[in-house]
Amino acid sequence: PPDDAQSLGDLRRQAEGCRRCPLWQDATQTVFGEGPENARIVFVGEQPGDQEDIAGKPFVGPAGKVFDEVIEEAGIERQKLYVTNAVKHFKFEPRGKRRIHQKPNAGEVKACRWWLDHELGFIEPDLAVAMGATAAQSLLGKAVPVTKMRGTIVTRDDGLRVFLTIHPSYILRIREAAEAQAERKRFLADMRHVKELTG
Ligand code: URA
Repeated sequence: PPDDAQSLGDLRRQAEGCRRCPLWQDATQTVFGEGPENARIVFVGEQPGDQEDIAGKPFVGPAGKVFDEVIEEAGIERQKLYVTNAVKHFKFEPRGKRRIHQKPNAGEVKACRWWLDHELGFIEPDLAVAMGATAAQSLLGKAVPVTKMRGTIVTRDDGLRVFLTIHPSYILRIREAAEAQAERKRFLADMRHVKELTG
């Protein structure tokens, strides 16, 4: 795509036709980031899921519901955030009528990083929150042990502070109720920390 976007809106329109990796072929549409250009915090997930692919908006499915509930409990208003993903097309494997999420590979993350870099360039947030390993990989340009480093901040060479936490879908995958509840509490503690860091 041309490197001539004058605004986040231009960037979003250019991303609609993205062919930087093959994932556009099977996905319904590009799911670009959403939120105000003057957002102070940018949240980054992995990639759109089944519902996001159809809606064309990030974090509107089951993981988005957990995200919404927990940030609200932490006193963070979603309308003030910019919410995006490391990879902007849904990667899946068809299984009967269902589409099963597949993790994007390093090449796909790298190809899509171009968009994330430009989103951050327009927004210039005070803090980026990496939810999960794929987001951390994209924001930091290298693999980081997110479960070990969660709750900590890594400052990039360009000065951007990146807060590391888990992906909300991790909570949904835990079968044991008490364990899921405990993990949700830890995620809430991380979100309260984010709230403190940004006022
Ligand atoms: N999971 C993500 O990482 N992003 C979404 O937008 C939805 C689910």
